[in-house]
Amino acid sequence: MAANPPKIKTAINSNERLKNLKTTFETKYGESPLFYACAPGRVNLIGEHIDYCGYSVLPMAIEQNILAAVSVNSSGMIQLANTNPQYQDFKQSCSEEIIIDSDNPKWYYYFLCGVKGIQERFGITRLAGMSCVIDGTIPPSSGLSSSSALVCCSGLLTMEANQKSLSKVSLAEICAKCERYIGTEGGGMDQSISFLAEKGTAKLIEFQPLRATDVKLPEGPVFVISNCCKEMNKAASSHYNIRVVECRIATKILAQARGLDSSGLLKLAQVQTELKASLEEMLTLVDEVLHPEPYSREEVCKTLCITLEQLSTDLLSSNTQDVTHFKLHQRAKHVYGEAARVMTFKSVCDSGPVESMQLLGELMNQSHASCRDLYECSCPELDQLVDICLKSGAVGSRLTGAGWGGCAVSMVPSEKVESFLQAVREAYFLPDPRRAAMEKQSLFVSKPGGGAAVFLEE
Ligand code: GLA
Repeated sequence: MAANPPKIKTAINSNERLKNLKTTFETKYGESPLFYACAPGRVNLIGEHIDYCGYSVLPMAIEQNILAAVSVNSSGMIQLANTNPQYQDFKQSCSEEIIIDSDNPKWYYYFLCGVKGIQERFGITRLAGMSCVIDGTIPPSSGLSSSSALVCCSGLLTMEANQKSLSKVSLAEICAKCERYIGTEGGGMDQSISFLAEKGTAKLIEFQPLRATDVKLPEGPVFVISNCCKEMNKAASSHYNIRVVECRIATKILAQARGLDSSGLLKLAQVQTELKASLEEMLTLVDEVLHPEPYSREEVCKTLCITLEQLSTDLLSSNTQDVTHFKLHQRAKHVYGEAARVMTFKSVCDSGPVESMQLLGELMNQSHASCRDLYECSCPELDQLVDICLKSGAVGSRLTGAGWGGCAVSMVPSEKVESFLQAVREAYFLPDPRRAAMEKQSLFVSKPGGGAAVFLEE
């Protein structure tokens, strides 16, 4: 369990992508890479917006990843380039403090988060000079975790370049924490699966302590990812953090209503643990304590006996200071319901009855409905796409990742995959020229991929 990410000896020239990256690197910097590092994106099968509430999630890594070629040198600089010309070069001196301006997200800030995380973990005063070229295959802003994969890849290569060693679990924890420098208060699912994934299996990711358990998916179906083509950059809007904050406030109010000392409690799962209650009981508690009408700031303060100032400093994040209303009942209902669906999904996979495909599909559909109606993290395009996927032969379909755009994941019986892809293509992609142009990288079958790794020239 305390394993480190693998270091794999590879014939670089026999792998087309590595070979091209090596050439790009040599042309750019006039030297050869010393090593390569990669970190995969992910698709979350079920368990949305509950990791930051302390609940387990069930993702798998995808084949698409962030790959970096790296040299360690005496330039005294960190130099960065991307094979995609849309992303500009960046460099800074190793002795300069790393500054991440969360008001103005830039692609290389995700890289700097990883560098900073490792620097802080080891208290490194002077980082090794390094030159990197990044090559990404995860569609950005699509809910497949391209940004966390970049943070993880950067954390891994910075560790390697500075001759340090860490387990996958430690790397996942460091990268989850340091990505928060960007300003989003993510829960840790993306970084955990990026490091802890193993080829051929989905994982149940549990937090505190962080661990990953294999989930054997049934033989019959495959998982198909489809992008609704509406981009969602969670760092550029406050939707995500508003949900985090609503869950925090709901935690405090539920805890207080049951006479708990709520001072150390910030996550909905902690209330359940303290009360030693079942998820069913938590759902009942939500109905008893919270009302469906949105709570004003004043009502929150009055209920919790706190001042507006305490609300703003103790519970709100910097980009949610202006939020005036909080939907606490709906958000808490989603979280406890979704946490229960994850556990049912896992136990159905473990017991593997003949009818499991249908059951898993239903859980995915319920998850989507809850994300759409209670958590309000879907969008019309995603709802339409999920609908089309179900009509095209999927037994279950739901948004995946943060939502408000990006991808859906559908469970499709293997024998129907070709007709499914064709039907979705015709109904969702081809009628719209912009979507049609993006179709190739926006509709694909995905199998559970492996986790982050370092490659060395053989
Ligand atoms: C983003 C975050 C994750 C998780 C999902 C929603 O991907 O990075 O931590 O909260 O959204 O499930």
